[in-house]
Amino acid sequence: MVRQPEMKPCAPKHIASITPYPPGKPIEELEREYGISGSIKLASNENPLGPSPKAIEAVLATLSKLNRYPDGSGFYLRKKLAEKYCIPFDGVVLGNGSNEIIELVIRAFLTPGDEVIMPAPSFLLYRLVVQWMGGKPIPVPLKTNLGIDLEKMAEAVTAKTKVIFLTNPNNPTGTVISKRDFDALLLNVPREVVVVLDEAYIEFNTNPDTPSGFDYICRNGPGVVVLRTFSKAYGLAGLRIGFGAMDPDIASFLNRVRQPFNTASVAQAAALAALDDEEFLRRTQETVWGGLQYLYNEIEKMGLKYIPSEANFFLIEVACEAKRLFEAMLRHGVIIRSMASYGMERFIRVNAGLPEENRRFVRTLSQLLAEMDLTDSNGGQGLPRIGACPGPDPGSEAGSGGVQNQ
Ligand SMILES: Cc1ncc(COP(=O)(O)O)c(C=O)c1O
Repeated sequence: MVRQPEMKPCAPKHIASITPYPPGKPIEELEREYGISGSIKLASNENPLGPSPKAIEAVLATLSKLNRYPDGSGFYLRKKLAEKYCIPFDGVVLGNGSNEIIELVIRAFLTPGDEVIMPAPSFLLYRLVVQWMGGKPIPVPLKTNLGIDLEKMAEAVTAKTKVIFLTNPNNPTGTVISKRDFDALLLNVPREVVVVLDEAYIEFNTNPDTPSGFDYICRNGPGVVVLRTFSKAYGLAGLRIGFGAMDPDIASFLNRVRQPFNTASVAQAAALAALDDEEFLRRTQETVWGGLQYLYNEIEKMGLKYIPSEANFFLIEVACEAKRLFEAMLRHGVIIRSMASYGMERFIRVNAGLPEENRRFVRTLSQLLAEMDLTDSNGGQGLPRIGACPGPDPGSEAGSGGVQNQ
């Protein structure tokens, strides 16, 4: 067949309609663009202390073996995880970040047209991955107190529902699910539905009344898949390593759609060592908890509302277009997250950094809010008063603008 010059390959509609992933601005690019130096990043919920020192040592020891493929089964890391958390070895699946486990669940269980229920707002990748597979994301708005509405999520189940995503603590709100609500959801959901409990930030949670996902993975009822990551509390975001814990039968489906060498040997070695670095984990938790307390106090002093969080980040309501504030802060070398892509036009999200980074954020925010004309194009009326934060419009849908970096 003679090819016409104007004919080009075209992806199917469900792919062509996706807004591609706009990655977060790396510090180096920001500094080049604005001609500044010494910037700080409090935008991607990363660990401000750097990687675990034990993980760095393990990575260095692995470098001379980079000519070999990694252990595709991740035997030693899975064995350690199974022992540490008392979970079945055959139910542990390693991922190139826990992001990959999200993708494996959807690839294994979804056919085009199937529905996937998720809180809105929550982690934007859930929606994107479902769209990749031609599935239908079903966003369920948060409650007015910004908690995930598990009752409404159970009510949203139809014959087409294959997966439910829950995030505990939730990103971007930092709220947690209670054990009672989680138990009730499992009773109300058909057994053939997979319930994903994404615990990316669980190491920062201090609320005792919240389910421990590992207790649920081999129980009767819907299949529970627990997601954990080494990107946050263990400081290994750049290596891309996370895992899912689930019933071995569910894991066998994920393994059918997993690339044989999906996690790098250096990443496996670093994760293995990081699990032993309890001192680093404790220091991380203390830095985050202390940092959040400092930030809450300062935000209150500024007369702004914030949402107390059980993760390493929190939301601040800024009474102006968050995107404008985000851009102004960028020019001062402070990278934060505007929540506009989550449908929360007047919220910013900030993660706890080192004490000097937190102080710089507070100084910059208070300077900019004093300088900025807070009357935006929608007629914003200046700073809100402290008090119970009403949160975003519960009807707003997450992710209309694609995913920003974490
Ligand atoms: C709720 C949630 N789940 C999963 C992830 C992905 O983490 P990973 O780096 O392990 O892919 C993130 C990252 O920000 C997240 O916020």
